[in-house]
Amino acid sequence: MSPESAIPAARWEGQGGEAWAALWGVPAVHLYAAVGSTNDEARTLAADGAPAGTVVLAEEQTRGRGRAGRPWHSPPETGLWLSVILRPDALPSPALLPLLVGVRVAAALEDGCIGAPVQIKWPNDLLVGDRKVGGILCEAVWEGDRPAHVIVGVGLNVGNAPEDLPAELRAAASSLAAESADPVERSEVAGAVVRAVTSLLYGVPGEMGEEDRAELARRDALRGHAVVVSAPGGEGEGIHGTAMGIDGQGRLLLRDEAGVLRRIESGTVRRAPVTRGKP
Ligand code: BTN
Repeated sequence: MSPESAIPAARWEGQGGEAWAALWGVPAVHLYAAVGSTNDEARTLAADGAPAGTVVLAEEQTRGRGRAGRPWHSPPETGLWLSVILRPDALPSPALLPLLVGVRVAAALEDGCIGAPVQIKWPNDLLVGDRKVGGILCEAVWEGDRPAHVIVGVGLNVGNAPEDLPAELRAAASSLAAESADPVERSEVAGAVVRAVTSLLYGVPGEMGEEDRAELARRDALRGHAVVVSAPGGEGEGIHGTAMGIDGQGRLLLRDEAGVLRRIESGTVRRAPVTRGKP
């Protein structure tokens, strides 16, 4: 779908964009029945001068994308696909942003939306019950060495029954509803996500504060596990080692098989079946 064929919507979950904007305390919420990618719509709005905190929310994305250009399955009714415009003065550690968003979204989801712990898998996955329920895609537009604006996209499988997920995702993916002991309301999930992302409206730190760092360590799904880290697109043989945590700038700490502690800035990680190196 080209950006021109985005289909606006008057309402989402029974309310219009103005009502959601007032409820969430943001300047505007742009609602779409269908759109290629909410990140692309948000980027267009930002280039046209939309203020920080502007939200783009779509019932369906026809070209939703994840990290490394992977397609992101975004069917109608079961998920939350939204993007928020941020305008930080600086973005000293871009790799940190998805983790900060992840930590805050995880805490917000646990705080009244879902009756199960939410974990974070470096660098941008949200897991519940060891399965991926969502992801975060942050895209910055630069003016020299300064960010003109940053788009924070969050996708969450909310109400999908496991059998409704595409066959190739079923083993590793799930939804909030499928993993939660309590019923999950999509509008509450949206409010929690917007509140979490807009907590970064007045600045994105270059280094994680103590509170975020402790939260991230507590939610780190990889820490202590044998892993293989490959290039962001998953290509290449990869480096085997043990995940030792995440540093203050959002880099994965990997103890490789030679015992060297590496700081990985970007990549794709999978858990390895057996530990091959010494922690
Ligand atoms: C990932 O896990 O690779 C990140 C997935 C991010 C998906 C969201 S859905 C809203 C926004 N629009 C997109 O096209 N992608 C993000």
